[in-house]
Amino acid sequence: MKAVPLSRVHLTDEVRAAAVAALNSGRYILARECSAFERELAEYVGVRHCVLVSSCTAAFLLLHHAMELGPGDEVIVPSHTAFPTVESLIHVGAKPVFVEVDDTYCIDPAAIVEAVTPRTVGIIAVHLYGQAADMDRIAAVARTRRLWVLEDCAQAIGARYDSRRVGGLADASAFSFYPSKNLTVLGDGGCIMTNDDRIAEQVRMLRDHGRRSKFTHELVGFNLRFNEIQAAIGRVMLRHLDELNAGRRRIAARYGARLSRVVATPIERPGAECVYHMYVVRTPDRDALATHLKTYGVETGIHYPVANHQQPAITARFDHAQLPRTETLVNEILSLPIYGELPLEDADYVADRVIAFFESR
Ligand SMILES: Cc1ncc(COP(=O)(O)O)c(C=O)c1O
Repeated sequence: MKAVPLSRVHLTDEVRAAAVAALNSGRYILARECSAFERELAEYVGVRHCVLVSSCTAAFLLLHHAMELGPGDEVIVPSHTAFPTVESLIHVGAKPVFVEVDDTYCIDPAAIVEAVTPRTVGIIAVHLYGQAADMDRIAAVARTRRLWVLEDCAQAIGARYDSRRVGGLADASAFSFYPSKNLTVLGDGGCIMTNDDRIAEQVRMLRDHGRRSKFTHELVGFNLRFNEIQAAIGRVMLRHLDELNAGRRRIAARYGARLSRVVATPIERPGAECVYHMYVVRTPDRDALATHLKTYGVETGIHYPVANHQQPAITARFDHAQLPRTETLVNEILSLPIYGELPLEDADYVADRVIAFFESR
């Protein structure tokens, strides 16, 4: 029997050598490798500024501080996302206002319109599973209501929207380099990207105790810096990102061709190019299918089984309307194995097992 993991990191001698070289350089925090990684990331995404920080969660926290978000402010977010998308809002005293997602699992622009109140200050668009949110419609709502927009790019580095890469489509964006992500530094890591000079400068100071020079603290900041070894690893990973994302798209095309008659397969937004951080199918038989796949060595996941507006940490603080579409989908979604180097024959093995499950019913 095969064992097919949900995901696997790209770990090669080139990656190991870069880590060892950084280890031997004698510089460990925010030095040459970090500056080079920031430059290369900004160029890759097509933005003016990239600031490395210790995680995507840290990126949001620093962005919220830089944007002076505080008590009384409301921010519209999709309920169907990873909890860290909303965690930092609560740390700065703001209120997440949860809304439904559309058929692509990204925030529904029509739901945003209905959720705006006089206290709304911004929107977080999550490019979930590697698919760009409907940014033109989101920008149109934001413009007429004078709201800012942040992009959560944790799952979507390299994804395109109208030929432009996500991360430079709004006021600022946050990325994650956690091990399961499309681009990883083999540990925790993240960055903010923006074309706004002021936001970039504030985040740059806030990540390092609010200073620009060693002993002058202009702001009360944090220690949410980045390190040289992981930047060196990230630089190698970035050079392979496009080929790894192309591998994910090949797997997704294969799954789509084979599975769309038995489960609901992902819908790609017209004009956008999804990088399939996750390959998520939908079926009312989700739990039985997952159990069946497990017995054949196929690892699956659920991203995410509990909607954020129903998380205990949220219900203890805020009242929220029901979100029936989200509440149904969290019981039906299943993530199948996908990563850049997943062999097509393994994808076929997974597809065979999924089809066999439905044929045996
Ligand atoms: C959509 C989304 N946003 C934010 C995060 C937080 O990323 P990090 O673990 O780097 O803080 C994640 C990671 O799971 C994520 O998937």
